[in-house]
Order: sequence, then structure tokens, then C-alpha cells
Amino acid sequence: MPNATVVVNLDIEGPAISRHLYGHFAEHLGRCVYGGFWVGEDSEIPNEGGIRLDVVEALRALNIPNLRWPGGCFADEYHWRDGVGPREERPRMVNTHWGNVEENNHFGTHEFMALCELLGAEPYISGNVGSGTVREMSEWVEYLTRDGDSPMVRLRKANGREEPWKVTYWGIGNETWGCGGNMRAEYSADLARQYATYCRDHGENKLYRIASGASDADYKWTETLMRQISCFGCDATPRNFFQGVSVHYYTLAGPWEAKGSSTDFDTDTYYRTMLAARRIDDILTGHSTVMDIYDRGRTVGLILDEWGTWWDVEPGTNPGFLFQQNTMRDALVASTHFDIFHKHAARLHMANIAQTVNVLQAMILTDGDQLVLTPTYHVFEMNKDHQDAASLAVHLKADEARRTVGDAELITVSASASVKNGKVLVSLSNLDADEPAEVTLDLRGGTLGDPVARLLTAGRVQDHNAPEAPETVTPRPFDGVKPVDGGLTLTLPPHSFLTLQAPLR
Ligand code: AHR
Repeated sequence: MPNATVVVNLDIEGPAISRHLYGHFAEHLGRCVYGGFWVGEDSEIPNEGGIRLDVVEALRALNIPNLRWPGGCFADEYHWRDGVGPREERPRMVNTHWGNVEENNHFGTHEFMALCELLGAEPYISGNVGSGTVREMSEWVEYLTRDGDSPMVRLRKANGREEPWKVTYWGIGNETWGCGGNMRAEYSADLARQYATYCRDHGENKLYRIASGASDADYKWTETLMRQISCFGCDATPRNFFQGVSVHYYTLAGPWEAKGSSTDFDTDTYYRTMLAARRIDDILTGHSTVMDIYDRGRTVGLILDEWGTWWDVEPGTNPGFLFQQNTMRDALVASTHFDIFHKHAARLHMANIAQTVNVLQAMILTDGDQLVLTPTYHVFEMNKDHQDAASLAVHLKADEARRTVGDAELITVSASASVKNGKVLVSLSNLDADEPAEVTLDLRGGTLGDPVARLLTAGRVQDHNAPEAPETVTPRPFDGVKPVDGGLTLTLPPHSFLTLQAPLR
């Protein structure tokens, strides 16, 4: 059995892990909003003001910190004025990006803000640059956040909301290099500056403006953006036009044209998926390095506002709805991403999985009134105490825990750790499909009290949950942690994720 040692320096606290690394994304796409979050007030599915309560309850257990909306590509076709006022009078449109279906605008600004309130999550609004106007975006900010008396405040009050909402996170466009307008980086950066100028801070509300950023390893895009949107060194007081710059990265096992089935894949495809998931480390390093050149003080956040797996849609479903199953493979993609996110906590301020319900790497799959929690959901739940914790320095010695995949090498153990309120949380993944791994936690600079461990695994990496078998992949208590000199030891089953929590002594 391969063994690995994870050195955890209990006395070396690193940067805080922003809670927003556990963020979410809900687009008007397929059944994410309609059928996922929103069923309407007349539905027999229990709801509050049209928002389905089983979904809210499940997500509240994750402490979800924020929710990005209304897209994605949809955001750059969305005109917010169509989504306020009496529902039956709202104009309709065609969602040309996603399935060419009619959008009735029944889920709009007030419904989204009500959803965020029910979830206890901060809103992250993605504004329309691709087909909108500066005035339209500026007025949306005013509508949401201004107090007192003004044209947009009067409109908001007429639509039933007296008090302004608090909105911090504001996206200026989405994928402006593609569906958001097919722009060049230079032009996009100029537009971002222009739009940001008119996204005002009203009263006490302070916006965190996020410029639409690069895809994958397009470091040149980030370089152009940072050069043009920052003003470091150009006058006496360094100032930012933006507080954040986005990047998107999806995990695929092969080429875009052949993503493959979510459930029917071979071991080679599984390992290629794990390699692709690990690539996020290089990508975050690359963008952070470029940002360091322009922003040594790390005042601008890197925002990975779309990440996750992307497979072929389930047979028989609308290809434009991006509905896919979610297996133990997806769970390990998520756990690996989180270990890497924690390592990049100094620059990475937010990450939003795509997408929360019924689309891509979802937490929840619904079918009518049925609801299933996916393996990915359980990773978010098991890891939730990393939110706002101090990251702990972790060193992995894994000479034996390796697999050759094509011409690359995959390290098959992944780990991270944090401390919060005197409790240490260690996350461990064994990515090997077939072999268990013997892991020793070499604890330095302190000791741990009695650990409580939970394990997520399945018979096969292809296993998933379904209404008739909702707990095929679900966390179970794990009592196999043994003390050894200077630490702890345990055997991780093949393709498994484990969390261990213990008081710091
Ligand atoms: O998440 C699905 C789509 O992927 C988003 O709409 C877009 O931003 C990205 O290309």
C-alpha cells in the first residue's frame, strides 16, 4: 500500500481562508433557477414566496457565503428592468444562450434578494456589459443600494421594498472575451473602467467591483487588465478601479468536443480528470504572479467565479440545459480544488462553483418535488469549517502515492488544514481509484485532542446518488485514526475524502 506523510505545522498560521472560497453560482440556465430554486407561489412544492424550501434548507447546512446571479453568459443578455414589478406584466425574452427557451422574468431582482436572505448568503450580482448600457448598470446599483429619495429608490419602493439592500459583490460583465461580447482584452479593460466609474457607492454601501477576467491560463488577459485597471504608481495614492479580477476554469477529462459521460467513464478518463483538476494550482499561480507585478500589496482579489466539472448532458435532456450527474469523481475534483484554494488564500478571495442546482457540478439535483444531495454537496458540507479559518502550512511527502497518467505524474494524495476557534480541521483525499493509502499526519508545533473523522467514499468512482438510492455516496463516521509518535495515522480507502477535526492542544 502506498504511504504518504502530511506534515501539518500547527503553529504556523497562514492567510485566512476567505469564506467566499465556498461561494456559489446560479444562472438562468436549464433548471437551475426555474425548477431548482424557484417553483412559484402556486406550486405544491413547499415554498416561501415561490422559492423552494427544501433547496434552501439543504443549502443553509453548507453555510453558503454568497450566490452569483443571473449569469454567466445569460448576464450579458439580461435587462434587470424586465425582472421587477408585477410578475404577470414582466416582459418575456428568449434565452438564446441556453436552450432557446422563453424566459418569463418571474425570478428577478426582488426574488433573488429574497433567496439570498433565506440562504443567509451575500448576493453577487453580475451586471450586463455585453448588451447593456452604463446607465442601465448604474441604475441597477442605485435601485438596490440607495437610501432616501431618487428615481430608482422610488421605483424600488413602488415595487414593495422600502429599505435598500446591502450588496457588496458586483461583476462588470462576464467572459467578455467570449459570450460577453467577444472583446479584446484592451477594449474590455477600458469598458470595465467606464462601467465601474458609474457603479457608485451609495451611502454606507461599498461595492467590491469585479472585472471580467481571463479563461484558463490566459495570463496575457490578466496582465492587460491589471495594467489598465490599476493605478498603482500613477499618482501619489495608489487606487484601484476594481477590487477583484475574475478567472474561469472548468475541469474536463479531454477535449471540449468530447467531454464524455458523467457516470460512464473508464479509469484512464478518471485519472485524466484528476490531472485536469490539479491544473487549477498552476492556473492560480500564473494569474497571481501576474497580479503581484501590479499589486504587490495584494489589494486586488483573484475571483474564480466559475469552476467545476463539465460533462456531456444526461441522455435525453436538452443539450442547452447542461444537466449532468455527479459522482465520487466530482467529489474528488471538489476536494482537490479546495486544498489548492486554501494554499492560494493570500490572493484568492472568492470561488464560485458552477452551478448550485441542476446545472454542471451541482450540489443538488431536483426532479419535480424530489431532491438529491450530490457527492459534491457532501464535500462542501464536510469542509465548511475551513471558512474564515487560518490556513495551516502543510507539506506533503508522497513519493509512493503517485500514478503515471499519459506523460504526466499525478500525486494521488491531497491535503490541507486550517484552525479556527481552537479547532483544527484537516482534509485528506486519496485520488487513487484502486489502491488505499496509508497516511501519517506528522504534527509539528503542537498536538491534537481526540479527533472526530468522517469519510466519503463509494464502491466505485462512478457511484452517485439518485432518488431511489440517495445515500450511495454519503459521509460516514470513521474510527480508523490511530495515534503514533508525533502524530496520527490512518488508511484512506481508494477514491475517498476524509475530514478530521480535533481541538488544538
Ligand atoms: O456555467 C455555464 C457557462 O460557462 C457560463 O454561463 C459561462 O460564463 C461559462 O462559459
